[in-house]
Amino acid sequence: MNIKFSKKISSHADCIVIPVFQKDKTTDIPDMNLNKALADFVHHALGNAGNFKGASGATYTLPLAKEYGYKTAILLGLGDKSAMKPMALQDAGGKLFIALKAANISKPAVVLPSASGSDDMPASEMAAHMAAGFKLRAYSFETYKSKSKDESETNAKLEGLELCTDDTSAAEKSYKILDAMVSGVYTARDLVNEPPNVLYPEAYANRIKDLLTPLGVRVEILDEKQMLKKGMGAIMAVGQGSDRQPRMVIMHWDGAAKSRKPLMLVGKGVTFDTGGISLKPGAGMEEMKMDMGGSAAVVGTLQALAMRKAKTNVVAVVGLAENMPSSNAFRPSDVITSYSGKTIEVLNTDAEGRLVLADCLTYGQEIAEKPEAIIDLATLTGAIMVALGHEYCGSFVNDNDFWSKLETSSAKTGEKLWRMPLDSVFKKDMEGTFGDLQNLGKSGRLGGACTAAGFLEHFIEEGTTWAHLDIAGTAWIKGDKPTVPKYATGFGVRLLNTLIADHYEG
Ligand code: BES
Ligand code: MN
Ligand code: ZN
Repeated sequence: MNIKFSKKISSHADCIVIPVFQKDKTTDIPDMNLNKALADFVHHALGNAGNFKGASGATYTLPLAKEYGYKTAILLGLGDKSAMKPMALQDAGGKLFIALKAANISKPAVVLPSASGSDDMPASEMAAHMAAGFKLRAYSFETYKSKSKDESETNAKLEGLELCTDDTSAAEKSYKILDAMVSGVYTARDLVNEPPNVLYPEAYANRIKDLLTPLGVRVEILDEKQMLKKGMGAIMAVGQGSDRQPRMVIMHWDGAAKSRKPLMLVGKGVTFDTGGISLKPGAGMEEMKMDMGGSAAVVGTLQALAMRKAKTNVVAVVGLAENMPSSNAFRPSDVITSYSGKTIEVLNTDAEGRLVLADCLTYGQEIAEKPEAIIDLATLTGAIMVALGHEYCGSFVNDNDFWSKLETSSAKTGEKLWRMPLDSVFKKDMEGTFGDLQNLGKSGRLGGACTAAGFLEHFIEEGTTWAHLDIAGTAWIKGDKPTVPKYATGFGVRLLNTLIADHYEG
């Protein structure tokens, strides 16, 4: 999708998008320098616009007669002018994408003259946020379609979005920073959408390296031999049933002085989770290609940080493995030795994510040396979906200040978090009979997301600030239309990118 900022609307635009602010249920169109006839028509139409009152994200499409110069005008609600919020503007940009598709538009232009800005946000910045929201919504994954959707549809091809604003260089500057975030979200979604026959651990590791190295991220890959030699028995056990060997990928972003302690990110990257010997039921198993969503969010975040040259230090570790049943697979009752030295009795080979994370957490803490904080992301439990559905990400945080930072970033980005309990009872529940630990809670499925977090807590060094984000419900959403059955969200990239920008930079 081509995003362009310009001072004057292009002559070939086929749709003019007019922002409308809501003021006590009346509309307040900024001075658009519209030609008089079009301005009159729009004002007249607004008077008859029924439910359209300029609420944020609401759209009202007006087919135009030839003499107005555009095929269509779309009125785009932006809400209360004195309370412009980045997220609401991004959301409006997304809604605009949908309206443009529905109206069969190919070359739309939004007009945002200086006067449409407010005290707290200039029009150029509003334009940048709308463009970012538009691009996020315009995402599609068509790598394996021999014919693209645009080609097979009779509709016009939506070519991009032009945004007209007086200060184009300010708009471009704001957009560049947002576009880094958007690119990170695209990457996370792409990685999740890739099929597991293409994105298996080794291929995934190489892809991370190819993507991030040119951006200035240091990428190191541990292969199966190196991991076995180091004694990473937990991640290796998960991958041992597959011919496609595990990898661990370590990423360093050094954007600040060495003296700044790094933030540590950890991601679960199970490229396909059959459940292993504790095999999952067949129905819906294809969705388990998304079991690397945590790692995808970490990679996407690093891309965003590198693209916008964030002044911060991050050490990231992702554990990549494929969980398969075979004669060589690990089994329930196996006792394995994790990299930490703690032994784990495997009671269910489908509780594999925590095993992968265990070794990543231990190795990460060893190399990062007392990180400022640790955040791990993982599609860890079905139980978190039972509790919070697709709406909220279950968040287990051992520090109230850290939680309030996360909560603020969540509110700013719309990536919703819900705090869940860490409790010594859950931690204790994971102590084992034949090993130090076991990978299944003693109360079975009850409190499954909490006991999973309790298991991970055994691998966090005393006194370390830590958040575990269970994104099983939020990394992947079941669409409501048959044409969009399910899709990757890229959950986590916006949250982490904002958290870092607000609290860990400079
Ligand atoms: N990858 C799954 C969790 C999952 C389920 C993610 C549904 C996304 C959608 C995880 O490895 C798993 O299988 N967890 C088990 C744990 C249980 C065996 C303790 C679960 O949640 O059933
Ligand atoms: Mn599993
Ligand atoms: Zn899994």
